[in-house]
Amino acid sequence: MDITPRRIPDPDGIRTARTLPASWYADAAHFARELQAVWRREWLCVGDQLDMPAPGAWKAIVVAGLPVLMVRGREGVLRAFLNVCRHRAAPLCETGDEGHGAALSCPYHAWLYRLDGSLARAHGVGEPEGFDTADFSLKPVGLAMWRRWVFVHADADAAPPDFGPLAAATQGYPVEDMQLVLHEAHERPFNWKVLLENYSENYHTPFVHPEIDTSNTHDYPMVADGLTLYAWDRPLCPTTDAGERMATLLPGEDGWDEIGAAPTSIPYDVGSYLTIWPNLMVNVFPDASLAMWMDPLSANRTVVHRRLYAHPSADAASVDAQIDAHRLVHLQDIDICTAVQRTHDAGVDADGVLATVEERGVWFVHQHVRRALGRDVDTSA
Ligand code: FES
Ligand SMILES: [Fe+2]
Repeated sequence: MDITPRRIPDPDGIRTARTLPASWYADAAHFARELQAVWRREWLCVGDQLDMPAPGAWKAIVVAGLPVLMVRGREGVLRAFLNVCRHRAAPLCETGDEGHGAALSCPYHAWLYRLDGSLARAHGVGEPEGFDTADFSLKPVGLAMWRRWVFVHADADAAPPDFGPLAAATQGYPVEDMQLVLHEAHERPFNWKVLLENYSENYHTPFVHPEIDTSNTHDYPMVADGLTLYAWDRPLCPTTDAGERMATLLPGEDGWDEIGAAPTSIPYDVGSYLTIWPNLMVNVFPDASLAMWMDPLSANRTVVHRRLYAHPSADAASVDAQIDAHRLVHLQDIDICTAVQRTHDAGVDADGVLATVEERGVWFVHQHVRRALGRDVDTSA
């Protein structure tokens, strides 16, 4: 196998790209546009399957302002509805609250819903003309799973998510077999795109994370296809490790989609990194996985959920070391993202360019947001 790293052509438009204006990260009206153009039109990660209610239980969540009720029927089927009573729009339960039972009762006037969302009883409603309980079920929202993560879509009739062959190529990484070892969520003072851009480039790593810099042994190619950006650690030097040699293949080449299952003696170096538009970021390694997803609260406030998963055979000391290492890197990213947001909040534009190789992931983010907002993807904002 030729292990000389091959150059991947520059994506169209990146050489003339300019950075987005500060207002796109700081302005409330712009944020409202993005809620409609992005967050109401895409599949959104809302959690790990472990976060979902047990049979006969429910849980209220909000993602990008959309109130959602996750309900699992007693037979085990998970469903998602708007957390909105069909009478006069009261939430059936408060955000973050969980409950269980045979039925859900609205706290306002006690309309009663079955766990499949159908209206069982409209207490004291009298005889509104043409009223039929069958027409007043809870409104469903789209629900889907990919790997161990749960997604919702504001449009219940949306086509199922298709994250394409780049995401499918990580199938060999044993994400579902791993144990949850870290579970956290924090509100952060930056726009959601600031973190998505940060995650989607490695250009900053030698400077922000010098302790994990591998730029003299690996590069970090990136390829985008549809909703997915795929990056991976690619060895620059000859290697005898099977997993690392596999990582020298390019997406679509023979055997490339087996990278996740390739045997390796240095698992932590054989990583693949996915940005799934618009709110999920996943690292996969043979022995660990890290997932982050975001819930935007406002132009400059975002809840960042993090989960770290470790192989069941990992001992407690190595798990603790992984948690500490990831936390250090994450907090370094949080600090630089917070600082960048201060510039955006000041209304100052960088009028910058993008590094044509190292910032293809940033271009991926910018293209998606421009496309969603109806802008020409090949021009600056
Ligand atoms: S708003 Fe739910 S019963 Fe009235
Ligand atoms: Fe980083």
